[in-house]
This record gives sequence, structure tokens and C-alpha cells, in this order.
Amino acid sequence: MVLGSIAEVRRVLDAHRSAGRSIGFVPTMGYLHAGHQSLMRASVAANDITVVSIFVNPLQFSAGEDLGSYPRDLARDTDCCADAGVDLIFAPSVEQMYPGSMATVVDVASVAAPLEGASRPEHFVGVATVVAKLFSIVGECRAYFGEKDWQQVVVIARMAADLSMPVEVVPCPTMREPDGLAMSSRNVYLTPDERAEAPVLRRAVDAGLAVIAEGETDPAVVEAVMADTVTTASLAALDYVAAVQAGTLVADGPLHGEVRLLVAVRFGKARLIDNAGGMVPGKPA
Ligand code: PAJ
Repeated sequence: MVLGSIAEVRRVLDAHRSAGRSIGFVPTMGYLHAGHQSLMRASVAANDITVVSIFVNPLQFSAGEDLGSYPRDLARDTDCCADAGVDLIFAPSVEQMYPGSMATVVDVASVAAPLEGASRPEHFVGVATVVAKLFSIVGECRAYFGEKDWQQVVVIARMAADLSMPVEVVPCPTMREPDGLAMSSRNVYLTPDERAEAPVLRRAVDAGLAVIAEGETDPAVVEAVMADTVTTASLAALDYVAAVQAGTLVADGPLHGEVRLLVAVRFGKARLIDNAGGMVPGKPA
């Protein structure tokens, strides 16, 4: 079932909750792939009802970004959801979500500021605002997010906790192509030559993790190893590399405990991101 109206979605989901059914929610911008489907399957396995939202959110694109060209295919997306066992699709129009200008936005400080926040200044206000709206529409639920967008997971989890939203944020692992490239709706922008080089993001993160496993704790050294790896790809323009603490997304001195390595690279029209986590080896007692 595909619904476009906020009131209808509330009515259907309230009826399910009244009948004692648990709700799982997967927010997306559509052009769905196996990465999105892995979130749907996690939701279907853990909840009675799974709802997927498909909405290309204008608020999270800055001027000059790819809002106009973002790929869209609702018919294919509907099949993709059915295939994963989704019960309900919420695909609102822009007018339904933003009937007027927004006087209220959600601005998550600290964890939204570095990395993607520094490169795309309005991005996380747009993401947090639309996800807050979607959580308000869907109501009490478990909500599934991909670790491919690690900072997004951290920002949304922080928002839900800070605002006491009745939502359990569930992070899910990154799904990859056989050569290691993280699946993304934006991979369609890559030319064949760029596509051939795109697994360099994963290799950069792996190279950083390898030196951490060997005992390196200086974030600058780890970041240099990652940046050197990216420069081996002739078509890649590095946006940022970062070796940070997983929870705060900043380095507070030598790396320790749970860390996250993140990378953002431009290939022509496409801007790709990737990341992975690791543990700094403990000092022998
Ligand atoms: P979108 O890019 O469509 O991604 C929707 C969800 O799918 C996000 O939680 C994202 O992390 C996850 N995802 C994307 N690629 C993945 C992969 N290869 N493996 C696992 N999960 C993957 O992220 C957004 O949309 C938007 O910002 C949104 C949260 C919907 C707000 O507009």
C-alpha cells in the first residue's frame, strides 16, 4: 500500500498500534537498492509492521547540489519494498511535507558540526528536521538507519535522545558491491572509469584501520595514510578523511577505544562517502 497523506499514515499506523502491533520504520529518499533492502529486512524481522518513507527532502540539499537530478523511480521502488516484505510505503509530495515555509527546524549541535556538517553546512538541519517530522508522523517505532551514513546515525540518535522521541534508532551494517564500493543511489552518477576507481574509498578506510591495528594512535598519521590511498585514484578529488572517536566524531588526542574512520571523495558529478569502525588495540597490562 502506497500512501501520500500524513493523516492517512497516522490513521493506519495508530490502528496497528491499537491492535498491539509493533512498528518498524525505514526512512529513505528512494531509488532503492540492496542497502536499503537490508534495513527493510532487519525491520521486517523485528517488527509486526514495516513502513518505508520515500521522500527526496529538498531541505537537506544545498543550492548547487543534486536535488533536481536525484534519481527517482517510484514504480521500481514499490517492487523493491514488496520484495523485502514491507507493509506500507509513505511517499508524500513536497506540498504534503512542506505546505508553507518552515519556521521550525531541528539543529543538532556538536555531532552535526564536523565532517559532512563542515562540507555541507545546511545538510544536517535538513536531515534532522525531516526525520523529526517523519518520526512525529510514524509515532512510536524502531527506526532503521545505515552505518554507511555514520554521522547521520549519530545525529539522529542524539536528536531522538535529546528530544525524548519514542523511537529506538537501530544502526545497520553497510551493504557493498562485490568490489567493496558501498551501495548508494548516487553511484549511478559514476562514469565507467570513475566506477572502476570508486572502491578506493573502502581501500582508504581499510588502510587506516590496518595502521591502527599495528598500534598507530596519532589521528594525523592515520588520516595521512588514508589520504595517500585516495590519491592513488587519478579521478578522485578528496573532500575529507577523518580518524575520530566513534561517538563524538572528533579526536580528543591520541585515538583510543572505539574509533571511526571516514572519507568523502568527489568523482566528477558524484560525491561519495564511506566509513568503518575499529578498536584501538588495548595496552598490555
Ligand atoms: P537515503 O540516502 O535514501 O538512505 C536511506 C537509508 O539507507 C539511510 O539510513 C542510509 O544510511 C541507508 N543506506 C544507504 N546506503 C546503504 C548501504 N549501502 N548499506 C546500508 N544502508 C544504506 O539517508 C537518507 O536517505 C536521508 O538522509 C534520510 C534519512 C531519508 C532523510 O531524508
